[in-house]
Amino acid sequence: MSAVDTERREALEAAGAGRGAADVEGETGAESSGVVKRRYVRRMFSEIAPTYDLLNRLLSFNIDGRWRRRAIDVLGWERRPRGRYLDACAGTLDMSIELARRAGFAGTVIAADFAEAMLRAGGAKVRAAAVRPVVADALQLPLGDASVDGAMVAFGVRNFADIDAGLRELSRVLKPGARLVVLDCSAPPSAAVRGVYQVYFRRLLPLVGRMVSGHRTAYRYLPESVAHFPPAPALAACMEQAGLSDVRYERLTFGVTAVHWGERPAGGGARA
Ligand SMILES: C[S@@+](CC[C@H](N)C(=O)[O-])C[C@H]1O[C@@H](n2cnc3c(N)ncnc32)[C@H](O)[C@@H]1O
Repeated sequence: MSAVDTERREALEAAGAGRGAADVEGETGAESSGVVKRRYVRRMFSEIAPTYDLLNRLLSFNIDGRWRRRAIDVLGWERRPRGRYLDACAGTLDMSIELARRAGFAGTVIAADFAEAMLRAGGAKVRAAAVRPVVADALQLPLGDASVDGAMVAFGVRNFADIDAGLRELSRVLKPGARLVVLDCSAPPSAAVRGVYQVYFRRLLPLVGRMVSGHRTAYRYLPESVAHFPPAPALAACMEQAGLSDVRYERLTFGVTAVHWGERPAGGGARA
């Protein structure tokens, strides 16, 4: 098998993993799909970091800023404007910056990502001392239980080696009453929109992505990872299963993305 075939196989395997994949090596020494996914995702984002922002604007027709603004709108930070907020999978810091520059915000944003190159690529954009980048895995956050006033993940949950474990970990760090906001790609509910979207997502996007980033598999992984991601109602159920209450969601731009949010109830925890 050629190196290109191997890379492609690894990207497809990574895209398919994420539900209930144990992040450990088995007794036989064989790597679990979770381990393969974590390694692939971290390396891939480290490699595409220099062109990530440009491609985001290009491939979303510059709508991504609007999606992020809507996600910050539902975070509920106004209830605790001096609070401590987590931006998990912070990447090049767009969500963190969007929150930090909201009028009236006087708190801090911990911007956590396991790909240091992504945080560094975003570093130049941060003027606000309120944003604190931290190299950390969202599945093992270096934060105490009930230690943040709100958390958000934009286009990150889909990349988790284990989505359910990731949502439980995010829920763990929320204070009672604090909110988790998840913004991610989604399957449009209309078959007609889905058809057009599939052509764009599976044909044009990988082509442009590869031309601009020079990366062979990243923009192939993207549509595959979305295809394996739970649809909006199922993701809402996963959030409830992770211990969040009052979970709601809103589809954005014909449902190509969705923003979900839910609160950690007082004394609540993940369901067994
Ligand atoms: C598609 S980018 C999104 C970045 C940013 N949130 C945004 O809105 O542009 C996904 C990011 O999630 C990070 N990521 C994926 N899985 C992670 C994990 N388990 N822990 C920490 N970061 C993770 C990747 O390194 C990458 O920077």
